[in-house]
Amino acid sequence: MFETLPAPKLDAIIALMQAFAQDSRPDKVDLGVGVYRNAQGRTPVMRAVKAAEAQILESQDSKSYLALAGDAAFLEGMENLLLGGTVPGARVAAVGTPGGTAAVRQVCELIKLARPEAVIWVSAQTWPNHLPLIAATGLQARPYRYLDSSCGGLDRAGYFEDLAQVGAGDVVLLHGCCHNPTGVDLTLQDWAETAALLERRGAVPFVDMAYQGFGAGLDADAAGLRHLAAHLPEVLVAASCSKNFGLYRERVGVAMAIVPEGRRATLAAILAGLNRTSFAFPPDHGGRIVSTILANSALRQMWLSELEEMRARVTGNRRALADAIRAETGSDSFGFIAAQQGMFSLLPLDGAEVEHLRAAHGIYILGDGRANMAGLNDAGIAATARALGAVMRNR
Ligand code: LMR
Repeated sequence: MFETLPAPKLDAIIALMQAFAQDSRPDKVDLGVGVYRNAQGRTPVMRAVKAAEAQILESQDSKSYLALAGDAAFLEGMENLLLGGTVPGARVAAVGTPGGTAAVRQVCELIKLARPEAVIWVSAQTWPNHLPLIAATGLQARPYRYLDSSCGGLDRAGYFEDLAQVGAGDVVLLHGCCHNPTGVDLTLQDWAETAALLERRGAVPFVDMAYQGFGAGLDADAAGLRHLAAHLPEVLVAASCSKNFGLYRERVGVAMAIVPEGRRATLAAILAGLNRTSFAFPPDHGGRIVSTILANSALRQMWLSELEEMRARVTGNRRALADAIRAETGSDSFGFIAAQQGMFSLLPLDGAEVEHLRAAHGIYILGDGRANMAGLNDAGIAATARALGAVMRNR
């Protein structure tokens, strides 16, 4: 049965994780997978998470099944975090999923069910797993222009020109904040124009929110999504708690359809049915940690300050790296790093230069130049600036 199956091409992020793990150099620098690291290079369990886990351990008296949608308190907490009360709960159908990845997949399955011929418009630079997920669902994707690499900002003209081609019933996948991999986010004005354009075209936005709290702050990062939800009849959302709660391996996510009130119950039932045929019940532990933190004011405060600490550290890393490269090269051509936000920036390097960084300097970034700013510490900043200086002098 399996004799002719070819070995699959490994996902670029996973392949880089494996290569990094096999590298024995003690001063290697991991700027690959999107994981936050502190000054010591560790990804600690957040204090609020530890405290919530202690409470759960003490009080939980059953591990029996819950609903297919997952725990209601978790879903309500996530709805508040994402939408901040901008739309009535009677418009929101949501289910828990194993991580943000499964949330993206479940939303794609929902689109496939409703409109198998829909085109999913995806920013030309995007998370390496978006296109495979869309293809695995059997949907077709088309790119829209996004990054203006000459300035490290949004290619606003290209973006709106491409989205003006979107057809009625098509879906536009947008990064809620901290665009992965470019670090370039839409302004509130861009979001408002996007909402108006999608309304005119009869298209549906699909917001992937994986980094809420890492950009401009918890509420500011959700402002675009909230604007869409308040102004459009239908909005799809996939959200992850991997980064902002540091719950990576617990797999905590939410798939959401914001719809007119009369459709909510049906959409909730469909999403629950999609869970049933994929994994049945979503994992509970991570979601329970989130709902425990959100419902307890002391834990919530602790979590907010830890999240703010992480956000400030990533912003600081960006500034420090941009300064160090400027000092090393005498040029401001990497100054965009400090202006962008979230974990990632796309460094303007070709494949051979990326490979040289890895082979000669032990610095791991993705083949397209994506570097994780949340993976840096002082030693990593100095090493990365030195290596980039050497690359630039060799051009
Ligand atoms: C990333 O982009 O590196 C993260 O979102 C981790 C992942 O699952 O790819």
